[in-house]
Amino acid sequence: MTAEIDPERRLGALVRENPEFAPVFESVGIDYCCGGDASLARACADADLEVAAVREKLRAARSDNDGETNDWNSISSLVDDVVERHHDYLRDELPSLERTIRKVVRVHGDARPELHDVESVFLDLADEVSHHISDEEETVFPELERLDGEASLTPDEEARIREAIDHLEDEHDAAAAHLERLRSLTDGYAVPEGACTSYRNMLDRLQLLEEDMHLHIHKENNVMFPEAEERLEAAVAE
Ligand SMILES: [Fe+2]
Ligand SMILES: [Fe+2]
Repeated sequence: MTAEIDPERRLGALVRENPEFAPVFESVGIDYCCGGDASLARACADADLEVAAVREKLRAARSDNDGETNDWNSISSLVDDVVERHHDYLRDELPSLERTIRKVVRVHGDARPELHDVESVFLDLADEVSHHISDEEETVFPELERLDGEASLTPDEEARIREAIDHLEDEHDAAAAHLERLRSLTDGYAVPEGACTSYRNMLDRLQLLEEDMHLHIHKENNVMFPEAEERLEAAVAE
């Protein structure tokens, strides 16, 4: 795609069409997942960034992109992608990262009291996210997958699904707030002088967790749910 990047377009739509933009927004600290409804111009103004400089980085990412595309073509394939790439990763990573954090806190917690807060925020995040992804898989995703078929819904069913989506979006905001707090407690995941291997490993993995959660939330908030809402309208109108 060679179209000029319009600063009035919304962040969520830009990343939906250009997945290679996600790491650029991540690197400059622009929230494209829960904040995906903001225009590029608005987000740059809020973050005190020059739109021209950010567009330049986006153009560079686009020309370096070696063919990464969004390969989902239905709600069901997007659900599969989210479960396989993001939920499975969280199921593996959260318990393992918890063990690493506990170890780092045990060894360095006295010298660095903020690590106790890192641990407690992480535990809240891990608990909430684990329930959230089970809830998605058990209750909401099967309903959304039905919308790929010839589903026709009653107004009550439609209202129930919309309510469930709103609830998931609220939980995404809460998860994003925890991630923001972890970033600030660790000073942007900066490695302190003399940090041991486990400490570095903890910071690297917390940062990867943040990036993965942002992409995951983006796919749900800015692609899956808007797509579902269009189908909901059609399913009730029929
Ligand atoms: Fe999810
Ligand atoms: Fe979610």
